[in-house]
Amino acid sequence: MCGIVGYTGSKPAKDALINGLSMLEYRGYDSAGIAVLDGLGGMDVFRAVGLVDELKQLVAGENLTGVTGIGHTRWATHGKPSRINAHPHRDCSGKIAVVHNGIIENFNELRSELIARGHHFASETDTEVIPHLLEEAYQGDLKQAMLAILPRLQGAYGLACVHVDHPDEIVAVRKESPLVVGCSADCAMVASDTPAILDVTRDVVYPEDDTVVVLHSDGTAQFFDATGAEVHPKTVHLEWDQNAAKKDGYDDYMDKEIHEQPRVVSDTLKGRLKDGRVVIDGLELDEEDIAALDRVVIVACGTSYHAGLVAKYLIEAWARIPCDVEIASEFRYRDPIVSPSTLVIAITQSGETADTLAAVQLARTYGASVFAVTNRLGSRVTRECDGVIYARAGLEISVAATKSFLAQITALTLLAEYLAQVRHRFNRSQVRMFYHSMLELPQQIQQILDHPEPVRRAADLIGDATSALFIGRGIGYVVCMEGALKLKEISYVHAEAFAAGEIKHGPIALVTEQTPVVAVAVHSPTREKTVSNILELKARGARVIGIATEGDEEVERICDATIFIPRIRSTLSAITASVPLQMLARLVAIDRGCNVDKPRNLAKSVTVE
Ligand code: F6R
Repeated sequence: MCGIVGYTGSKPAKDALINGLSMLEYRGYDSAGIAVLDGLGGMDVFRAVGLVDELKQLVAGENLTGVTGIGHTRWATHGKPSRINAHPHRDCSGKIAVVHNGIIENFNELRSELIARGHHFASETDTEVIPHLLEEAYQGDLKQAMLAILPRLQGAYGLACVHVDHPDEIVAVRKESPLVVGCSADCAMVASDTPAILDVTRDVVYPEDDTVVVLHSDGTAQFFDATGAEVHPKTVHLEWDQNAAKKDGYDDYMDKEIHEQPRVVSDTLKGRLKDGRVVIDGLELDEEDIAALDRVVIVACGTSYHAGLVAKYLIEAWARIPCDVEIASEFRYRDPIVSPSTLVIAITQSGETADTLAAVQLARTYGASVFAVTNRLGSRVTRECDGVIYARAGLEISVAATKSFLAQITALTLLAEYLAQVRHRFNRSQVRMFYHSMLELPQQIQQILDHPEPVRRAADLIGDATSALFIGRGIGYVVCMEGALKLKEISYVHAEAFAAGEIKHGPIALVTEQTPVVAVAVHSPTREKTVSNILELKARGARVIGIATEGDEEVERICDATIFIPRIRSTLSAITASVPLQMLARLVAIDRGCNVDKPRNLAKSVTVE
């Protein structure tokens, strides 16, 4: 969704802003803009519909030497994508400019009030009320003006503003929208997400809600709470290497991130077995509480929801605790059965998904212990939950989740083992056995990545089909759900996953000779049943792509193309079987000329409902 960036320092702000905005492109947007203070009491504002590249071209010939500025990528909510609606927005005097991520819910009321007091509005956006409110509150101190207007703003915001009379300063604030601040020897930056400031520093601060930040061009930042008292939030060091936000020789981020998965799985496992016991730092629940749990409820959206479905199989099979997985946007509007003996797990890569956060808040009202599985240090979910398990995938830029999904299911597999160990379902040697099987996963994933040819053949089978079906059973069914989501979101091929046993109850009517079907038939207690389903589909002319365990000649014989994965316990197979489906979706998307990293209409962090 929208991205904001601000730079104040010793160099021209323009370059840092354009670079920062390009690093936020993955969030999804439809227009972009910057405002740069000229240091002489003026401000230059440039806005463009479309890509950051359009904005870059717009400012290319401009002699912008100002060292302080703010920028924005807009994902339209109030008002269509247009130059007029693109940020930054200004007040009537043109002295104040604001960029904003989030939604001001009471903007209609504020706008009417401001218009009645003589303000002129240039856009249809909710954001524009902010510069006008600041204009009224400003009495020579921008920070004070910001503190004064905060009580008037309802909704979610991460925002940054500048005033021509303060050419060495940016004022920023957040509430329920992400914001990160980083300082170096010669500049200070603020942004919606860390990639925008990684070139400057990896020591960052994630301000709390309602903290007002003042960034100074000498490379310092001050933080104030809502009463105006100075606070000193802790600095977090990001482990990401400098190439985290670069393609590193790959054609696209998705390819890079798919290829990082062996390392990611190994990072997520690292240090989480000690003396034959799984250890999960950050869980913040003692073993007595875990023993007393009578239910687990998982809330998540999209790919993270699929990770939750994998966890359900494992938690129920190993720890024998009933586990429900709920789509967060449904859960939040139900009257769910949650109690203090329910463990609620929120899974969210970004840690900022609005529906998942709302589900967390609802669960807390029932007195449940809530913890998060997230990939993002300092994200909002980490502040709203009792405990956090980090999926150590590193920065994921491609909109389609790949490595973060594998990291999530690896972390959740460890959690299921942990719950089984605490409830005495697993003894030390069983825990060791599973953990050691998991240690084989990185090398197995590498083996799949090293042999892309069968995936190429499978992509050719999908060819120009307009629809594809995915079938599987058990964990294989969840792998199919995720595979179908990947295919539809990046290649725009309509794709649906079905439990293989269900196809005779309706979906088989869809099958013609043109229908590609992906069948996950890896070694598992239900493999034979899936093989029978493949035969039924073949009898109706379907083109079947099998995902099978190495050496499975039967699946190879009956399918039109087969992708083999190395033999692994079936309970761990989602971690390997998902990889060829990610590769398949990417190839089909590329064959169709799609931008795999930035699928149309999608945003990486869905920070609004
Ligand atoms: C799909 C994808 C989305 C996200 C979903 C939840 O590839 O990335 O379906 O999984 O928007 O996002 P998080 O995990 O950040 O809560």
